Amino acid sequence: MSIRNAVIPVAGLGTRLLPATKSQPKEMLPVGKKPIVQYIVEELSLCGMDRFLFVTGRGKSSIEDHFDIDADLIRSLRESGKEDLLSELEFERLGANFFYTRQHQQRGLGDAISYAENFSGTEPFVVALGDSIIGRHEPSRIVERLIEAFEKSGAICAIAVEEVPLDQVSMYGIVKPASDAEVFEVLDLIEKPARSEAPSNWAIAGRYVFSPALFDAIRRTGVDHRGEIQLTNAIRLLLAEGGKVVAVRLPSHEKRYDIGNFESYFETFVEFALTDPVYGEKLRQYARGLLGENS
Ligand code: UTP
Repeated sequence: MSIRNAVIPVAGLGTRLLPATKSQPKEMLPVGKKPIVQYIVEELSLCGMDRFLFVTGRGKSSIEDHFDIDADLIRSLRESGKEDLLSELEFERLGANFFYTRQHQQRGLGDAISYAENFSGTEPFVVALGDSIIGRHEPSRIVERLIEAFEKSGAICAIAVEEVPLDQVSMYGIVKPASDAEVFEVLDLIEKPARSEAPSNWAIAGRYVFSPALFDAIRRTGVDHRGEIQLTNAIRLLLAEGGKVVAVRLPSHEKRYDIGNFESYFETFVEFALTDPVYGEKLRQYARGLLGENS
């Protein structure tokens, strides 16, 4: 596995989750016991990444604090006889290097990723959206599969995709597949298409591998009607210029949990909490009681 660099864009304003996100990043909202970004870093670490660049913005410094080793907290747990809680901080010792840069203005995902150019240099790199968890409890290996597909096919970009209901295609970037194989070539892709214009129901699932050619494509991608540079449009430009783009399907037992709005955030939290190995059973009993009372 040769790719070590991962870029995690977390600079978005998270307006769909106000007021929860007024003074805290949506990427730090808890899902069960952990904040969302911790799931992402643990997933990518298992897939061989050990250099992480967070593209942050104003009000996002708690992300930096979360991945810092907190010597005072460790000492205080030891001194107060709470050594058993030290295991909750094991993620601090993943052996990874963390880097931070700020997107000055929220001009879209493509713009956020352009800030990673100095970090990744001439190497291919992984992008993982800061508001999407893949898989439940067991970290996903999809990024390993993406890297394999990227390297084997000589593609300029590899994208994780998952099937979504047809009435939800307008919420996602949708790809046009060349075949129905597990790993397929992408013929086109379109950001949030109307149902009638969607080339399939295969949605981009928040994990990518890119060649550094992406940066030049982002520079040449215009802003959309909202003044944002869309990552999907930069990939489209690469495709139009003859670049190869491949997609890898998420395995059927893995799902993308997108925490971008309250409906999906609530669903994700409830699903993770109800299936928690320690607290899940009691919570399921509690939920049964609640549902019984209200039905
Ligand atoms: P979203 O478009 O879902 O995030 O971006 P948002 O802009 O925060 O959402 P709303 O519409 O205001 O609720 C997906 C990921 O890309 C990052 C976000 O932080 C999120 O992790 N992002 C988005 C940036 O880093 N910069 C941007 O300009 C936009």
